[in-house]
Amino acid sequence: MDDLRDKYIQAIADASDEDAIEALRVQAVGKKGEISLKMRELGKMTPEERQVVGPALNALKDEINSALAAKKVALADAALEERLRTEWLDVTLPGRSRREGSIHPVSQVWEECTAIFADMGFAVAEGPQVETDWYNFDALNIPGHHPARAEMDTFYMARAEGDNRPPHVLRTHTSPVQIRSMEMAGAPLRIICPGRVYRADYDQTHTPMFHQVEGLAIDKDISMANLKWVLEEFFSAYFGTEVKTRFRASHFPFTEPSAEVDIQCSFEGGTVKVGEGDDWLEVLGSGMVHPKVLAAGNIDPAAWQGFAFGMGIDRIAMLKYGIPDLRPFFDSDLRWLRHYGFASLDVPTIRGGLSR
Ligand code: DAH
Repeated sequence: MDDLRDKYIQAIADASDEDAIEALRVQAVGKKGEISLKMRELGKMTPEERQVVGPALNALKDEINSALAAKKVALADAALEERLRTEWLDVTLPGRSRREGSIHPVSQVWEECTAIFADMGFAVAEGPQVETDWYNFDALNIPGHHPARAEMDTFYMARAEGDNRPPHVLRTHTSPVQIRSMEMAGAPLRIICPGRVYRADYDQTHTPMFHQVEGLAIDKDISMANLKWVLEEFFSAYFGTEVKTRFRASHFPFTEPSAEVDIQCSFEGGTVKVGEGDDWLEVLGSGMVHPKVLAAGNIDPAAWQGFAFGMGIDRIAMLKYGIPDLRPFFDSDLRWLRHYGFASLDVPTIRGGLSR
């Protein structure tokens, strides 16, 4: 029995991992272990022998079990010590900085427009980008044979075979939102509609998708004078300097009278500066809403009147932030986005305190 004890106590001391401990447990005190087999022999002994050998075997079993348990704990402690020694972290090291994303100039200018017009009491309205030709054209007094339809380079949606209804279009301007808003809210009304629009066109200043913001104000006594004030107020706030406007008589099917609006600028040394100089830059179309358009929006043209305008968001973004080419707006080139993008916490740069 002493030999057994010496053998196992030594083996346990020499064991180097948990598997070795488990193997020793099975070998010594498992069901068919050496000690267990010895215990079975007790039955063949005389009662006197059994009284001596029985307790001794039990004591030996206990001793081996405790040695196994103690060794297990010692091995776990050693493993933890080893991890603590090798897996350490210097919390005083500087952090790795991560590149932050940036706000796209279109998003920034969209926000700026919304903020400035909100100050003048305009709410934001939205409409679908896939439109019926009725909203995009007919309701705006652009009938099927009208040249404006052909001029707009419209994208038409495909219809299923055998479906002869007129095709939907990708809206060519934000003007259809005028009709939808009139239908929904009636008069009086004061809204802007920023959004994406589509035309088949591509060069330095045209992309197949671009952005417009539409304006619409309807009330009992709205006039061109209100239009001019609102636009001058807008441009002065947007460019952060007093900006004069020039109205040129024009034609749009949805307004009568119609005007194209230029803003004052100078072209010196190849750069455009808004709000100074003697030159003019065309920035939008506008006019008094045509009676047929009011009627299409279920508003009585005998009782109500109003102005509307439509302006390119990308275009005024290029002007304000000195961006020469429109195409990279939509290339998602990270270098361009980092250069022209805005930090996420940048407050829109607009002139505070409208002059009212
Ligand atoms: N929808 C016109 C365009 O895309 C712009 C426009 C002109 C909108 C005159 C208007 C307006 O609301 O009154 O070219």
